[in-house]
Amino acid sequence: MPWAFALLASACGSGDTASVAGPIDPRRGAAVYGEACASCHGDDLRGTDRGPSHLSIVYEPNHHPDESFRRAIRNGVPQHHWTFGAMPAIEGLSADDVTAVIGYVRAVQASEGFDQ
Ligand code: HEC
Repeated sequence: MPWAFALLASACGSGDTASVAGPIDPRRGAAVYGEACASCHGDDLRGTDRGPSHLSIVYEPNHHPDESFRRAIRNGVPQHHWTFGAMPAIEGLSADDVTAVIGYVRAVQASEGFDQ
């Protein structure tokens, strides 16, 4: 039954498109954000004096796809869009934490909309 294998293979083919995140628990993403990101990006995602708003149009998915979030968390980010300084690599997050936190940012972006 070759079709069954094809079906299985496609069902298990996660990770082929970085923008398609797996099942996400929004509460987990919010908790990770609160612990690891909010000190600079703000509890409401609108930024602080240490980091930019994730609701800036700069961070809409076509300009900063999920992979750029993964890279930022893994490697940190040199200052380039703003004048807050660099973002350090964020230690101690599991792959699921990272997926959850990106899902959370995307959900808030979708519900709040972007600032210009
Ligand atoms: C110590 C402060 C700090 C923390 C903590 C922090 N960030 Fe940042 N982040 C920054 C700053 C500052 C920038 C802007 C750099 C620039 O473009 O000038 C930034 C930029 C980014 C970018 C844009 C990357 C790019 O390619 O331009 C993403 C995505 C991001 N942060 C996600 C996160 C997430 C998710 C977390 C939590 C897991 C987090 N940040 C935690 C300070 C921080």
